[in-house]
Amino acid sequence: LRRIAILASGAGSNMEAIAQACEQRQIPAEVGLVICNVPKATVLTRAEQRRIPYCCIDHRQFDSREAFEEQMLKALRKASIDFVVLAGFMRILTDRFIGEYYGSLLNIHPSLLPKYPGLNTHQRALDAGDSECGATVHFVTPQLDAGPSIAQVRVNIDPQDDAVSLAAKVQEQEHRIYPLAISWCLEDKVVLRDGQVWKDDSTMSNEIRA
Ligand code: GAR
Repeated sequence: LRRIAILASGAGSNMEAIAQACEQRQIPAEVGLVICNVPKATVLTRAEQRRIPYCCIDHRQFDSREAFEEQMLKALRKASIDFVVLAGFMRILTDRFIGEYYGSLLNIHPSLLPKYPGLNTHQRALDAGDSECGATVHFVTPQLDAGPSIAQVRVNIDPQDDAVSLAAKVQEQEHRIYPLAISWCLEDKVVLRDGQVWKDDSTMSNEIRA
């Protein structure tokens, strides 16, 4: 069984969904490690409750991004991790870290990329008067939030929606598409080669509507 790690900074609802999918064998892997950079984040409590090995590596304890990442790489190696997923991990990674897991490093971003990379995605969709928003699972490449897409889910924006209600609606869908996208990668149905994504026919439904 493959061993995956989840990097997170916050509530950890995606971590929970991925861990559950692993337990139910929807994802052919075991969560070997959760790394969190925020000491009081809820994701740590959730990992503890699920008896998943976890560690907190506080980026503020390091002089440089490189030193912080070196500590994470050490922990990943020690736990024999060969696939890494970012789930609400709010630190930018260097090219070196990305290079170590190139093709085996995924992120979920709360927008319909290439629209709205970066922060405050839901508010920006509302401000632009968009009729829909969503989330994208993509391979991580050196350019922020610009790696090739694996799966995307669309959610309608209703007149009464605000950034909070949108975040909740989108997150519910994130919990569906992230496990699915991870399983595609681990089953080699989706592969990153020379900066391009190659997809098996069975993943043709990679546009998912809520
Ligand atoms: C998720 O909605 C994810 O898309 C977003 O953070 C949330 C984490 O929630 N990620 C980013 O904004 C990445 N830049 P969670 O901790 O409950 O999984």
